[in-house]
Amino acid sequence: MKAGNSVRLLSVCLTVTAELLWLCNGTYFSATQVCPITITPNPMVVQYKSRVQSATCSSTTNNPTNVQYIYWETQHGAQTIQSLNETWFVDTHADWDPRPVCTAVIKGIGTCYMNLNYTLYKTPDSVSIHALNNTELVMEDAELQLQCAIVNVAPAHKLTVQWYRGNETIEPDVLQMIDCWHENNSSCNFAEVRSPVSVSSTISVSLNRTHHGVQFRCEAQLDLGAERIRMMSKPLNLTVLYKPIINTTKLPKTIPVFQGYPEELVCEADGHPPPKILWLYSSDKVSHVSEGKLTVYEAGFYNCTAINDIDSTIHVVEVILKEDYLPLIAGFVAITVVVISAIFLFIYSIYYKNTKMRRYSLKNPKLSNHNGNVAHNGWDLPLPMTKLT
Ligand SMILES: *[C@@H]1O[C@H](CO)[C@@H](O)[C@H](O)[C@H]1NC(C)=O
Ligand SMILES: *[C@@H]1O[C@H](CO)[C@@H](O)[C@H](O)[C@H]1NC(C)=O
Ligand SMILES: *[C@@H]1O[C@H](CO)[C@@H](O)[C@H](O)[C@H]1NC(C)=O
Ligand SMILES: *[C@@H]1O[C@H](CO)[C@@H](O)[C@H](O)[C@H]1NC(C)=O
Ligand SMILES: *[C@@H]1O[C@H](CO)[C@@H](O)[C@H](O)[C@H]1NC(C)=O
Ligand SMILES: *[C@@H]1O[C@H](CO)[C@@H](O)[C@H](O)[C@H]1NC(C)=O
Ligand SMILES: *[C@@H]1O[C@H](CO)[C@@H](O)[C@H](O)[C@H]1NC(C)=O
Ligand SMILES: *[C@@H]1O[C@H](CO)[C@@H](O)[C@H](O)[C@H]1NC(C)=O
Ligand SMILES: *[C@@H]1O[C@H](CO)[C@@H](O)[C@H](O)[C@H]1NC(C)=O
Ligand SMILES: *[C@@H]1O[C@H](CO)[C@@H](O)[C@H](O)[C@H]1NC(C)=O
Repeated sequence: MKAGNSVRLLSVCLTVTAELLWLCNGTYFSATQVCPITITPNPMVVQYKSRVQSATCSSTTNNPTNVQYIYWETQHGAQTIQSLNETWFVDTHADWDPRPVCTAVIKGIGTCYMNLNYTLYKTPDSVSIHALNNTELVMEDAELQLQCAIVNVAPAHKLTVQWYRGNETIEPDVLQMIDCWHENNSSCNFAEVRSPVSVSSTISVSLNRTHHGVQFRCEAQLDLGAERIRMMSKPLNLTVLYKPIINTTKLPKTIPVFQGYPEELVCEADGHPPPKILWLYSSDKVSHVSEGKLTVYEAGFYNCTAINDIDSTIHVVEVILKEDYLPLIAGFVAITVVVISAIFLFIYSIYYKNTKMRRYSLKNPKLSNHNGNVAHNGWDLPLPMTKLT
């Protein structure tokens, strides 16, 4: 190798990370962009147990005769395997972490290499959700832990978990590997492990009555760059147990009742399990109960109690007797009618007298000639008619 090439190599080596510096010994290249080779496909994403696939490494030099060797190196555990071929065939059943590298020996350049960005992925065997407390009955406002288990998935570092409550999403939390007790164990390190592992995601939720019957689901997502593979769990139905609350919109604290008219008191309560409705009132009251509705006729206190396994709640209703004003109003109207009739009769009697007098004065022709239609005080319409004729 010429001196000029060594200087070039050195300058390249100085720009790369310390991790790679050992490669700069001798004639190794380290900066992949300088190596005149290309790999197809790259990146390479292969599904577990899919058909045999391969990656091909070829030189991009103008003069192919300068290419002395092109070969692949892969890792199998601690062992490095060289395959003296431009094509590397993937074992889709086992090549979880082969770290494939294509190496080229080129006249005038030396030895250089290029990494293949390779991923062997496996979709999970199952994605399932369960309550850690082993109960699907949960008290309102109690904390509940839900776990999503993703079994046998690879690679774990490309996995994310999305939680759903109904159709709304919940912020996912940190993933944990199942059955991993040694923190130092490299097979428990997400960034390192490539072979299939089981992973869990746990969330802590607090549920209230609005969440009754809501379904929780979790979704495993494998982000493979070009595509994102999703796998959804079956929904988990949670039953929220909550104490009854009486709807006071339908049942105010005080209710007026008219003497002799029945009034219906509607007691409805929201609770789970569905509450029973009981009415309590002194036994001397006349009333009638059906389906939570109480028909009352008398004033007094009536207590509605809603009760379920969780709790009970009471709502006291005061029924107030209202005077029935209808007869009074009818009497008032009758009196008014009589009074008005009397006034009219009185006015008519005055009018009657007036017309009699005027008929008498018409008989005087002088008055009629002089005044013409002057004598109109509203009551003597016939007067001008007389004049015209
Ligand atoms: C590379 O492998 C393929 C298939 O195994 C074979 O046909 C080809 O001859 C090999 N090439 C070299 C240079 O060994
Ligand atoms: C579920 O378990 C957690 C801790 O294990 C506890 O804090 C929580 O109260 C439990 N929730 C229910 C509903 O039992
Ligand atoms: C969820 O569904 C409800 C009706 O079931 C709808 O009103 C709401 O907009 C939906 N929310 C989202 C984020 O899709
Ligand atoms: C690391 O963990 C795996 C699985 O949990 C176990 O099979 C392996 O023996 C552990 N290795 C060490 C060195 O503890
Ligand atoms: C794990 O590693 C830490 C340092 O990284 C060390 O202090 C600790 O003793 C190790 N634990 C085991 C069980 O090897
Ligand atoms: C129930 O919880 C949700 C949030 O989880 C909250 O937005 C809502 O106001 C709560 N409803 C009641 C009645 O507490
Ligand atoms: C490997 O390819 C993926 C896309 O498939 C990309 O997101 C990632 O950054 C690449 N890694 C490296 C080290 O180039
Ligand atoms: C969950 O609820 C849905 C409807 O709300 C029902 O179709 C489904 O069978 C329920 N699943 C279970 C396991 O009870
Ligand atoms: C109470 O009853 C009213 C009238 O029917 C209804 O509009 C309201 O939604 C009910 N409130 C509750 C909490 O059920
Ligand atoms: C109704 O409830 C009130 C207040 O709790 C109580 O004082 C009263 O004795 C109750 N009446 C009946 C008939 O239970």
